Amino acid sequence: MALWGGRFSGAADSRFKLFNDSLPVDYRLVQQDITGSIAWAGALKQVGVLDELEHGSLVLALHELSEQVCDEQILLSGAEDIHSFVESALIDKVGDLGKKLHTGRSRNDQVATDLKLWCKEQGEVMIEALVKVQQQLLELAQREAHTVLPGYTHLQRAQPITFGHWAMAYVEMMERDLLRVRDALTRLDTCPLGSGALAGTAYPMDRQALAQALGFRQASNNSLDSVSDRDHVVELCSTAAISMMHLSRMAEDLIFYNSGEAGFIELSDAVTSGSSLMPQKKNPDALELIRGKTGRVYGALTGILTTMKALPMAYNKDMQEDKEGLFDAVDTWLLCLDMTALVLEGVQVNKQRTLAAAQQGYANATELADYLVAKGMPFREAHHVVGEVVLAAIEAGQALEDFTLPQLQAFSDAIESDVYQHLTIDACLAKRVAKGGTSLEQIERALGQQKSAPTRE
Ligand code: ARG
Repeated sequence: MALWGGRFSGAADSRFKLFNDSLPVDYRLVQQDITGSIAWAGALKQVGVLDELEHGSLVLALHELSEQVCDEQILLSGAEDIHSFVESALIDKVGDLGKKLHTGRSRNDQVATDLKLWCKEQGEVMIEALVKVQQQLLELAQREAHTVLPGYTHLQRAQPITFGHWAMAYVEMMERDLLRVRDALTRLDTCPLGSGALAGTAYPMDRQALAQALGFRQASNNSLDSVSDRDHVVELCSTAAISMMHLSRMAEDLIFYNSGEAGFIELSDAVTSGSSLMPQKKNPDALELIRGKTGRVYGALTGILTTMKALPMAYNKDMQEDKEGLFDAVDTWLLCLDMTALVLEGVQVNKQRTLAAAQQGYANATELADYLVAKGMPFREAHHVVGEVVLAAIEAGQALEDFTLPQLQAFSDAIESDVYQHLTIDACLAKRVAKGGTSLEQIERALGQQKSAPTRE
């Protein structure tokens, strides 16, 4: 039975009903709807709408429903949405008394409350999933703190770094994602229940007590805003989108490192698949899917922003479109975080290949320029001289350090025999001691900082 039949003389068209019903999406809010209803029953008792006995029976029945209900039962009920389902299931249990529960409440403040409760619970799950990926990255960083890796800009070998430094870069990104989740959770921590349809509830209830009974920090301020605010959906979709951007970049790096051309890492059999045609292949499917699924999470963010744009005050049915995108974005993100942790767990680094690659491509050219600067040459001039040395080395098909001293001195007489010790990879790495650099000292500092405060609250 619909909740609003009285004013209507005709039945809804079955195609319209299918179009209008949100149960296939919002069935996931059943526990939040029951929790909100239990708290609402308490508020109704406080203002004298329910007596002690009535309150007791309603709360008991709601608890029973919470334990007994299953998705299949909800989905087969034919209810319009989860709020209608819970209310009619309650009426089935306690009869007419169940019809009192909706006094002073609207589905508008109810859905806003349910969804915020869901966001709060999921926030904790998101934090846990992000921390799990961070832990895998920290372990990798620790394991590969000494492993030399070519660092790239424009996908051209630029300067040597370590694999540990690479992993710690992603730890930083996840750290910001964590802060974004926490920040969104703090801002959404206001309870809309008791805002009515739009103007506020007509019963003089203690909304602060109601908010706290539901675990919110405080009751929301303005009833119009409370029922029509979906900032938290936008913010969580945005947090998910930004985090997926990070995961997709990590996926892309690892796909490249895993390629036959680079051969820097080998992915575990557990997260790769074969080709039906080409027996030699081992494809990085998990990573490609993480990269690919980023698109639909961005889609959810664009979707909710567009749905909310220019909506008049206060609630409009357009807002019913908020949940499908949010649920999918959060599900997808959590799944990708879990897969990322699994992939990282099995990454094997081929230290010979990474070292060999870092030794090619003149990644120590900056070092030679810095060496000339230390000998008193202005950097611009040093840059030019080293450019000439690199060109000659390319033509000769050799590394900078393969030139003899007289050959190097032909480019600049500032070059002396101590030059060679500056051109080794170890020297390149060891010099990056300023905060944030790729030296072992700095990686250990970053690791230590993460270990002592994993989410740096
Ligand atoms: N299913 C609706 C939603 O998700 C619940 C609120 C309905 N309110 C209303 N006035 N029709 O937004």
